[in-house]
Amino acid sequence: MNDHLNELMKWIESSSEMDGQNILDHVCTFLRDNVDTYNWVGVYIVNGGMLKLQSFAGPDTEHKEIKIGDGLCSLAVLKNATVNEPSVKSNSDYLACFPSTESELVVPVMKDGKSIGEIDIDSDTKAAFGINDERDIAVLAEKLRDIIFPLYME
Ligand code: SME
Repeated sequence: MNDHLNELMKWIESSSEMDGQNILDHVCTFLRDNVDTYNWVGVYIVNGGMLKLQSFAGPDTEHKEIKIGDGLCSLAVLKNATVNEPSVKSNSDYLACFPSTESELVVPVMKDGKSIGEIDIDSDTKAAFGINDERDIAVLAEKLRDIIFPLYME
């Protein structure tokens, strides 16, 4: 993933004048297209007690709005920490989106110690995410902070 991440980071840096939505759309599509095990990639924004899906690549989902409290997505926001679930089907907190999903990585986007959004990745492979994925997506989350912050509402 490293080379891909470097390419993506450079692209984000060179796109700072671009509309934030276009940047998020490109990030989701790029990750899904370039990493075999990333089958669905989305960015949720914290907005008035809800998580709102701002951008995604992959199949459509009914979970465009998630009440904070529900699902692994909420867990990451409430704990201000990454959730890496190797086996979603055995986790009772999991909110099912796609029947094919086996594992999920949720990395919060933090500002001033608070989660303002998150990157959510679903994989059809069991235990698809390792510490390298956690680290890479955390680097990316930091990079997206200034794009996501204007969309955030407590
Ligand atoms: N599985 C998530 C819900 C979002 S979908 O993966 C797109 C969860 O447990 O919160």
